[in-house]
Amino acid sequence: MPLTIEELATFCKKKGIVFPTAEIYNSLSGFFDYGPLGVEIKNNIKKSWWNTFVHQRDDVVGIDGAIITNPKVWKASGHVDNFEDILVEDTKTQERFRADHLVEDALKIEAHGLKAEDLWKLIQQNNLKSPKGNPLSPPKQFNLMFNTNIGPIQSDTSRAYMRPETAQSIFINFKLVQESSRLKLPFGIAQIGKAFRNEISPRDFLFRSREFEQMELEFFVDPKDKTLSSQTSKHKQDKIKFQFLSREEQAKKSPKIEQVTADDIVKQKKLSPLHGYWLVEAFQWYTNLGINPKNLRIREHTKDELSHYSGATFDIEYNFPFGWKEIHGSADRGTFDLTQHEKIANTKLRVFNEETKEHILPGVIEPSWGVDRALLAFLFEAYDNDQKRGNIVLKLHQKLVPMQIGIFPLVKNKPELLKKAEDVFQSLRTAFTTQWDESGSVGRRYARADEQGIPVCCTVDFESLDDNCVTLRHRDTTKQIRVPIKQLHEIIFKILHGEQFEKLGKVVSS
Ligand code: GAP
Repeated sequence: MPLTIEELATFCKKKGIVFPTAEIYNSLSGFFDYGPLGVEIKNNIKKSWWNTFVHQRDDVVGIDGAIITNPKVWKASGHVDNFEDILVEDTKTQERFRADHLVEDALKIEAHGLKAEDLWKLIQQNNLKSPKGNPLSPPKQFNLMFNTNIGPIQSDTSRAYMRPETAQSIFINFKLVQESSRLKLPFGIAQIGKAFRNEISPRDFLFRSREFEQMELEFFVDPKDKTLSSQTSKHKQDKIKFQFLSREEQAKKSPKIEQVTADDIVKQKKLSPLHGYWLVEAFQWYTNLGINPKNLRIREHTKDELSHYSGATFDIEYNFPFGWKEIHGSADRGTFDLTQHEKIANTKLRVFNEETKEHILPGVIEPSWGVDRALLAFLFEAYDNDQKRGNIVLKLHQKLVPMQIGIFPLVKNKPELLKKAEDVFQSLRTAFTTQWDESGSVGRRYARADEQGIPVCCTVDFESLDDNCVTLRHRDTTKQIRVPIKQLHEIIFKILHGEQFEKLGKVVSS
């Protein structure tokens, strides 16, 4: 039986990965707190992303912008006027629901992106009611931005917004970053940070929440030349094949999934080579961290669902138990945002193009990842309810694990053995994330470590006092090897970098 989202949420709470916020006050819908294990996994996701897309590249720099900024930014970006979902109201209880979700749940069809009049037609034709069985109001637009007030007096002029996307911090700082870092087109600016959306119906645990984190990259380019530059082509872009759901197929009764490369869809003029490049980079980031490509597909946005700023958008979707859902959005924003900010701020945001010797307003390709949705996908992929062992094994990629090593003294009533284990622990923790566990049987401790995703456990036993060796146990295979303490750092480093476990020590029976 596949794991449900509710079961995963229960597991996350039990293991200290994610809690509903303020549970002692009955929680708050759409908000979550990360626990001791969750914060480690989440930090590792962000670390891996920053390393891949900032540190390992010479054409991308990072920033960290304010969550609340001048409200004119959101007028210019179009979010004040266009960042809306469609809601319907229960006419008796006044409860509000996202109209497309209500239609999807009742009719089992894809309704995302449908216009208000089409949703209303479906509601009327099928005589749909609210979950409490009451008639529904006609659909209304609802702006998703959270408002707040700045300063002690609340008025229309004190209104500000919690940012609904991190991208705008990049656009408004674009010129300062470009000048201070002396960047030449094409180049990218990356950012990781919180975003807030007053979702009408938050659901599916972390998937649709009201406070979440994004990892966004705005890649600035001459809008007339979106081919690969010397810098982008320098990065590896293999002829990776992925599952693809085109706009045309989505219009059919039984849409066909194709196996394509980015080049194939570039040839169909669905996107530019540079946009294709970024889609593949994003796809590979997930697969390099352990997501099976079979559980990923790329879906082209239909015309109706394109955001107000986008000329072409492709989502990377993950095969969740509640359906294929977006975990990444990749948009060609063209010059929309910089044009708007030039106009509303009455400023110039042009860059000198060395090749054409003109000042130009760059176009933008935007790959955007959600941290929380990535974590959800990684957890689904890693969760293995191992019937033979009788416990769950969280087979997270080594780069994402909350702890790298578990140290177990075999017994806790023999001071020399404890001292030896303590020495190993103190030495290892200088280089690795390390957890001490001395309670219960070793089998129980292995099971606990499996559920936390700890890839290597190290047991210090009676023999260790004589032979100065310890037993290492591998999470995924349960295989065990005996290794000298003085080589532990090197051996653990090799295990964590994927070297074959059994070749790194003397295999012992488990
Ligand atoms: N700057 C573009 C942008 O914000 P988006 O598709 O609305 O585009 C990008 O959001 C990513 O942010 C999504 O792919 C998703 O991973 C994450 N995201 C969006 N809304 C979310 C929500 N309510 N809860 C959790 N993650 C969300």
